[in-house]
Amino acid sequence: MSKISDRLNRLSYSQTFVMSNKARDMKAAGIDVISLTLGEPDFDVPQKIKQAAFDAINENYSHYSPVPGFLELRQAVSAKLKRDNDLDYKPSQICVANGAKQSIMNVLLAIVNDGDEVILPAPYWVSYDEMVKLVGGTSVFIETSIDTEFKFTAEQLEKAITPKTKALLYSSPCNPSGSYYTKEELEAIANVVAKYPHVTIISDEIYEFINYEGEHVSIASFPQVYEQTAVINGMSKAFAMTGWRIGYSACPDWLASACDKVQGQMTSGANTVAQRASITALQMDPLELQYMITEFHKRRDLVFELMKDIKGFKCNLPKSAFYFFPDISYFIGKNLNGTEIKDADDFAMFLLENAHVGCVGGVSFGSPECIRFSYAASEDDLREAMKRIKDCVEKF
Ligand SMILES: Cc1ncc(COP(=O)(O)O)c(C=O)c1O
Repeated sequence: MSKISDRLNRLSYSQTFVMSNKARDMKAAGIDVISLTLGEPDFDVPQKIKQAAFDAINENYSHYSPVPGFLELRQAVSAKLKRDNDLDYKPSQICVANGAKQSIMNVLLAIVNDGDEVILPAPYWVSYDEMVKLVGGTSVFIETSIDTEFKFTAEQLEKAITPKTKALLYSSPCNPSGSYYTKEELEAIANVVAKYPHVTIISDEIYEFINYEGEHVSIASFPQVYEQTAVINGMSKAFAMTGWRIGYSACPDWLASACDKVQGQMTSGANTVAQRASITALQMDPLELQYMITEFHKRRDLVFELMKDIKGFKCNLPKSAFYFFPDISYFIGKNLNGTEIKDADDFAMFLLENAHVGCVGGVSFGSPECIRFSYAASEDDLREAMKRIKDCVEKF
C-alpha cells in the first residue's frame, strides 16, 4: 500500500518546472542554455512598492492579519475593480490569498464535491487540471486550435455543461495561448452560464494588464452572471511581484464567506509586509507600469517576426500575456536526430537537448501539438533562441 495518498498519487509534477529544472541542470553543467520556460516578468518590483514594504517592516506589521487580508488592502482591491473593470465589490467580498493560485484553490475547495465536473477549455494553465484532481473533481475539456486563436465558443460551452458541472475555469488573457476574450465573446459565454445556475465561473484575470490591443473585460461585469462568478487576480504579473505571493478573489457573498472559511483553516492571512506593499501597488496609476507592457509588446513583435520563418512552426500573433504557443504538429511522428517525436513534450525536449533552448511542451496544457515559449526574456536572448531553433530544425 502506498504511504502517499491516492489524492496525491493522482497528481503530476508541473511540466513547466520539469523543463526549467532540466534547463538549469544543463546550465550548471556548463551548457549555454536559453530558458524560455517560466512565466514570470523579468523586471524588478517598482521602487515605490519596495519602499512600502520597508515602511511596513518599520511600522511593525509583523502580526497575523485578518484571514481575508487587511481591510485597507481589500478596500484597495475593491477600488481597483471599480476603476479598471467597472465592478462593484464590497471589501467583505474580497479574499486576499498567497497568490492567485491559492485563490483558485480556495474557490475549488469551496464548491467542488467528489465527482463534480469542472470545464477547462484547452489549452489551459497547467495547474488547473491538477487542482481539479486535488479537490476530487473531474476535468471536462473543450478542444480549441490555433485556427480560432485557441478560443472556445459559447456553443461549445453549452454542449459541455451537464447536471454535474460545478465550474467553468479559464484565464483571459490566457496562459498559454496569449489570447483574450472580447466583450462580445464573453457576453455570449455569460448568457449560456446564466441559464445554468449550478455553474460557477472562475475567471482568472491575472494577465489583465498585459494586453496589447484590446480592452480587458471581466465576465463578472455582465449582471446575469455576477452571482455566479469568482474573479481571480493578483500582483504577480502586472507588478512583477511573483515572489511576494499576493493574489485575491472577488466573489458574490455566498462564495466569499466560503473562501474565507477555507483559508482560515489552511493558511490564515497572507504575508503582512507583502499585503501592505500591495496597497501601494494597487493605488498606482496603471500608466506607471506601462514601460513593462511596452517592452513586452516590442519583444512579442520581434519573436513573431523571427518565429514565422522557422520551418514547421505554425504561429499566430498573441494579443496578450507574454507567451507564444506555436503549433508544431509538422514534427509529430518524425524522427529527429535519433529522437522519435510522439508529441509536443518530446519536441520540447529535443529543442532543449539539440538547440539548447528551453520551452514547455503542450501536453500538460491540454494541447499535445503545441509548445509554449515565454518571451519574458531579454531581446538578445530571444533573438539568439529563435536563431538556434531555426538552425536546429533546418539541420535535422
Ligand atoms: C493563468 C495563471 N493563473 C495564475 C497564476 C499564478 O499566479 P500567482 O503567482 O498569483 O499564484 C499563473 C502563474 O503563472 C498563471 O499563469
